[in-house]
Amino acid sequence: MEVNAKAAEIEKAGLVNESPQANMRFVVTVSLVAAFGGLLFGYDTAVIAGAIGYLQTKFQLSAAMTGWAASSAIWGCIFGVLCTGYISDAIGRKKVLILTAIIFALSAVASAVPANLTQFVIARFINGVAVGAASMLSPLYIAEVAPAKHRGILVTLYQLAIVIGINLIYFINMKIASMGDEAWNVELGWRYMLGSEVVPAIIFFGLLFLVPESPRWLASKNRLDEALNILRRLNGDTQARIVLQDIRNTLHEEKGTVRELFSKGLRAALIVGVVLALFSQITGINAIIYYAPEILKSIGMGQDAALVQTVIIGTTNTIFTFVAIAFIDRIGRRSLLLWGVSGMVICLAAIGLLFYLQVGNNTWLMIFIIGYIASFASSLGPIPWVIISEIFPTKTRGVAMSLATVVLWIGVALITQWTPVMMEDLGGAYTFWIFMVNAVILLVFSYKMIPETKGKTLEEIERIWKKEK
Ligand code: GLC
Repeated sequence: MEVNAKAAEIEKAGLVNESPQANMRFVVTVSLVAAFGGLLFGYDTAVIAGAIGYLQTKFQLSAAMTGWAASSAIWGCIFGVLCTGYISDAIGRKKVLILTAIIFALSAVASAVPANLTQFVIARFINGVAVGAASMLSPLYIAEVAPAKHRGILVTLYQLAIVIGINLIYFINMKIASMGDEAWNVELGWRYMLGSEVVPAIIFFGLLFLVPESPRWLASKNRLDEALNILRRLNGDTQARIVLQDIRNTLHEEKGTVRELFSKGLRAALIVGVVLALFSQITGINAIIYYAPEILKSIGMGQDAALVQTVIIGTTNTIFTFVAIAFIDRIGRRSLLLWGVSGMVICLAAIGLLFYLQVGNNTWLMIFIIGYIASFASSLGPIPWVIISEIFPTKTRGVAMSLATVVLWIGVALITQWTPVMMEDLGGAYTFWIFMVNAVILLVFSYKMIPETKGKTLEEIERIWKKEK
């Protein structure tokens, strides 16, 4: 409010040149609102962990049917991501975010009241569409409004929100489950778990009215006055003019066709985006996030101890995301990624070895699992989101980011589907060594292919690729 009033006052007095500072309070508010999409992403994907057992009993599901109940949301995500890029390039980022919030709320209610499995699968699929849309639009929007200097931190807030969402619903699921006995949970508990999604969805919907449309999208539609006004509020007046001029120059050079993405320079950007997205998944993070209790129980840990360790894993994931926040705009994406993925390689090698030696329930195993999570959270957790939201040209950013994000979700689907099978057929050692080999490949790729993008404007980054033409 105060900010709006001040901007209006300055405009009225014709004193636009006297607001040289980036308005960090506004920038942070706008980014936090968009990051809230990440909270819904974490919350609505992880909710299934607590609900699935009760659903299984309620609808008497076979193993294959259980798989459908758990994975229908992920297929929805893939569909949602595919549509969102195109639609958000066409009608704007903010409108699609608002639509997403509505789908989140409606599908939450629908997932809580189904009478049979088919209705449940449909409701979860639609919920997945919203998760997919939010998963790409939130970071994309933040990248488009953030001043270059702080863009890394601000997009990392989105990853922090994902992790908080995951932990929050674990906690809420636990509380709901403790409200009644098994029979109550089979009848009602899981419905409350899924229905609770409606609360963050409504908050998200309300908050979205506080944020402006993305200035870069407006500029790409030639709505320059609106774009300048918003850039002023975000960057201060002097900087806003410089930024807008630069946006216009690069927009001028962009063809805005999907074909352009496959031209020589931008093809490298696309490869970087897709590889990072895929490898952020096939290096095993969600094998641990989704299956930690099962993995720990398989080595002889009791149910309670396994749950405590799962909480420790969630807490580590949260705390070390702050390490990324502290360093991503200082030491940069590239260095942080190289350090973090190296840490993951070492920990994965050790975890595989401990499984191979069949040490069972062992303190060292827990230490290396925590080390792996800490290395991931401070690097490979947020960095793919940061990089895929910043490396593509404005006119095709939506579509390009869709492509990378779809690959990420296919990675999630693969890992969700195959981890239990791999653990059973190959055993823990080879499962984790496969993740390790993938992490080594990612390390070499990152060293050779990923340029440093910290502190650069989106337009400067665009020119990095063009130079490679
Ligand atoms: C990243 C991954 C996501 C994972 C999360 C865990 O956001 O993309 O799949 O669940 O980190 O922290």
